[in-house]
Amino acid sequence: MARGKAKEGDGNWKKFIWNSEKKEFLGRTGGSWFKILLFYLIFYGCLAGIFIGTIQVMLLTISEFEPKYQDRVAPPGLTVIPRVLKTEVSFRMADPKTYEEYVAGLNKFLKNYDNDQQANSIEFDDCPDEPGDYINRGPFNNDQGQKKVCRFRRDWLGNCSGMLDSSYGYKDGKPCVVVKLNRILGFKPKPPTNDSLPPGMMGKYNPYVLPVHCFAKKEEDVDKIGTIEYYGMAGYAGFPLQYYPYYGKLLQPKYLQPLMAVQFTNLTYDTEVRVECKVYGENIGYSDKDRFQGRFEVKFDIKSS
Ligand SMILES: *[C@@H]1O[C@H](CO)[C@@H](O)[C@H](O)[C@H]1NC(C)=O
Ligand SMILES: *[C@@H]1O[C@H](CO)[C@@H](O)[C@H](O)[C@H]1NC(C)=O
Ligand SMILES: *[C@@H]1O[C@H](CO)[C@@H](O)[C@H](O)[C@H]1NC(C)=O
Repeated sequence: MARGKAKEGDGNWKKFIWNSEKKEFLGRTGGSWFKILLFYLIFYGCLAGIFIGTIQVMLLTISEFEPKYQDRVAPPGLTVIPRVLKTEVSFRMADPKTYEEYVAGLNKFLKNYDNDQQANSIEFDDCPDEPGDYINRGPFNNDQGQKKVCRFRRDWLGNCSGMLDSSYGYKDGKPCVVVKLNRILGFKPKPPTNDSLPPGMMGKYNPYVLPVHCFAKKEEDVDKIGTIEYYGMAGYAGFPLQYYPYYGKLLQPKYLQPLMAVQFTNLTYDTEVRVECKVYGENIGYSDKDRFQGRFEVKFDIKSS
């Protein structure tokens, strides 16, 4: 009995796949199959069309050269070179091995600022070598091709340029750090007003420079931090405005951020000294969450023997 039932079931199954009486395949006639396939073809075709169409319209309103929405971009951060682990610069003056990593980092970074990297006068422009106003290079598109960028001379970094002292001061226990403001497309940094600067730097005000200033992070380190030398364009410790705005890597592939350097020439040795540096500007912000937004910290620990 069980066998008979199975046979009957088999017959139904085969019949379902191909019913020769009604000429139906899987329960449908050829005409029915054709109609249903045609329906789905048109249905999915229309869906794909709507999808592609929407994306195309969306892309038309987006420029390749300028972000459409930039109102939630945080103020720029600072980058310190050499990039140090746990922001600690620790070395032994007498042992070059202990600071060779810092020197290598600076060498690598500053190579892009060598004169021979900026020789091409189609890509590079000699901007005023005194701080000046923003340089407007037209709209954010390539109707006029790529845009020029200002040259930045490595020797403006003086004793921190690596050209006068190939150890950047490390061999004498006078370490240099080089500082740049991270690039943000179209961003125009606004210098601070004269009276919003900390007292120690009043004399160096220039309306076209975003100044950088370093100080002891902790009260007990004030006596240990010693003299701080600043280097930058025309002797100003900061970022001159003529390097802004940045037009993005499609329009300014060779863009060089303006740099400044800080040298600590009389740090107290054999102890930790915590230093904080800040850049000042009206549209520069600081954040408790991001320790590199508008400022940075370095801990020096130089061993004298
Ligand atoms: C740069 O280094 C030289 C040689 O060590 C020194 O005489 C000069 O005073 C330094 N310049 C500054 C601004 O510290
Ligand atoms: C900045 O302020 C100082 C002290 O208040 C003043 O002597 C100096 O002339 C001011 N500089 C500018 C450019 O306004
Ligand atoms: C370096 O700092 C010490 C105190 O830490 C001070 O006695 C000395 O005069 C300073 N040297 C220079 C050149 O400023």
